Amino acid sequence: MSASVKSTYTKTAIWLHWMIAALIIGQLIGGKVMHAMDPAPLKFELYQLHKSFGFIILALSVARLLWRLGHKPPALPDGMKPFEKIGAKLSHIAFYILMIGIPISGWVMVSSSPYIIETKIFKLIPVFDLPGVPRTEGFNALTKDVHEYMAIAIAALLVLHIGAALKHHFVEKDDVLNRMAPRIKVRR
Ligand code: HEM
Ligand code: HEM
Repeated sequence: MSASVKSTYTKTAIWLHWMIAALIIGQLIGGKVMHAMDPAPLKFELYQLHKSFGFIILALSVARLLWRLGHKPPALPDGMKPFEKIGAKLSHIAFYILMIGIPISGWVMVSSSPYIIETKIFKLIPVFDLPGVPRTEGFNALTKDVHEYMAIAIAALLVLHIGAALKHHFVEKDDVLNRMAPRIKVRR
C-alpha cells in the first residue's frame, strides 16, 4: 500500500468526491420528489432512473473506498484541536458507510418487493435481485424505513460537512477546501 502523505488530494480523489457528491445530492432530491408523486408512468420512469443512478453511486463509492484504502489523505491542519480531528475522521468514515450502505439498502428493498419489477441500469444492464431476501410486505416496509433514515442521516452529515468546509475556508482561512477543489487547467 502506498502511504506517502501529500499536501493535496489527487485528481482521482477530487473527481470521485465531486461526482459522487453531485449524484448523491441529485438522489436525495429525486428520491423525495418521486416518492411524493401520484402513481403515473413518469413516476415509474423516475424510480427506474433512481435505481440506475443509485447503482452508479454504489460502483463509484466502492471504487473510491478501495482507492482510498491505498492512499493516505493530506494531513489535517496543525491548528485543529484533537477532538476536531477525530470528528472529521469519524464523519468521513460515516460518509463511506452511508455512500455504500444506502444503495445496498435500496437493492435489498427492490429485492424484497412483493411486486417483481425488473431492474435494468439505464434500460441496458440487468441487475439481479439479491438472493435470500424475504419477499414480504413487512420486510419490504422495514427496508423502506432503513433506506429513508439512512438518506436523512447522509443529508444531516452533508449539512455539517459543508458547514465545516466553509468554516475552514472563511474562518480558519486554511487550505482544506482548496485542496479538494477541482483543478481545471486552462490552456494558454
Ligand atoms: C453528499 C455529498 C458529499 C459526500 C458524500 C462527501 C464525502 C466526503 C468524504 C468521504 C471526504 C473524505 C475524503 C477522504 O479522505 O477520503 C470528503 C472530504 C471533503 N469534502 Fe466532501 N462530501 C460531499 C459534499 C461536499 C461538499 C458539498 C463540499 C463543499 C462545500 C465538500 C467539501 C469537502 C472538503 C473540503 C473535503 C476535504 C476535507 C479534508 O481535507 O479533510 N464535500 N468529503
Ligand atoms: C446513494 C444512493 C441513494 C440515495 C441517496 C437514495 C435516496 C432516496 C430517498 C431520499 C428516497 C425517498 C425516501 C422517502 O421519502 O421515503 C428514496 C426512495 C427510494 N429509493 Fe433510493 N437512494 C439511493 C439509492 C437507491 C438504490 C440503489 C435503489 C434500488 C436499487 C433505490 C431504491 C429506492 C426506492 C425503490 C425508493 C422508493 C421507496 C418508496 O416508495 O417508499 N435507491 N431513495
